[in-house]
Amino acid sequence: MDLILLGPPGSGKGTQAQKMVERYRIPQISTGDILRTAVKEKTPLGVEAKQYMDQGALVPDKVVVGIVRDRLKSADCNGGFILDGFPRTVPQAEALESTLKDMKRGIDHVVSIEVDNEQLIRRLTGRRTCRDCGAMSHLTFDPPKKEGICNKCGGELYQRDDDKEGTIRARLQVYEKQTAPLIAYYRKRGLLRTIDGVGDIEKIFREIVEAIEG
Ligand code: AP5
Repeated sequence: MDLILLGPPGSGKGTQAQKMVERYRIPQISTGDILRTAVKEKTPLGVEAKQYMDQGALVPDKVVVGIVRDRLKSADCNGGFILDGFPRTVPQAEALESTLKDMKRGIDHVVSIEVDNEQLIRRLTGRRTCRDCGAMSHLTFDPPKKEGICNKCGGELYQRDDDKEGTIRARLQVYEKQTAPLIAYYRKRGLLRTIDGVGDIEKIFREIVEAIEG
């Protein structure tokens, strides 16, 4: 099953993708995670990406398209994949379509998770991520039992550099302008499944499963 998770920053793409990985046993491909690893390791890609990410802007299409194209060729994607945070522009969506066509496959479903802006800001300012296992928690909605420590693996929790309020607002504007047009793009292709992303995480997950399994 080849899937895309679409939605604004903080809508829960990463949270739901991790649950989907457990259910469907297919990999999550998060361009944000790939770029953050490159930034941390100070690779040439990371040095280039950091200047865009720090401003809440998108990394150029050419760069991200290349990353995803290579990743999709890995053997673990043979049975399907969950794209989280890609595509984010119409040119990225077109490049994905042509890559998959060359591979004689195509997207099965695009799940668009909808959440209002005020809730998104609350979620992102309170988000904490585990340095070791990548699990997400939230200071108010899903607080760690011990301050600064991941509930799942005991690793250290940190706040992402782009989760400061000014950068969050810039990311939300970028989403409206550059990524929201993908909703119409995929609706036109009959692939769009829209989910209300506010409420209990498990309930949202059940709705996603229902939407893609029919
Ligand atoms: P990326 O890492 O993709 O970030 P994003 O799209 O902004 O999404 P987030 O990871 O912030 O949010 P999410 O939807 O995954 O929500 P989460 O589950 O964490 O991209 C970062 C940057 O990289 C971009 O700005 C850009 O510069 C660059 N980039 C990446 N991909 C690119 C591309 N394709 N092209 C160009 N540039 C690219 O949840 C958020 C919080 O809410 C958590 O604390 C969670 O615990 C909590 N939460 C989740 N669900 C619920 C719920 N139902 N109720 C209450 N709290 C909840």
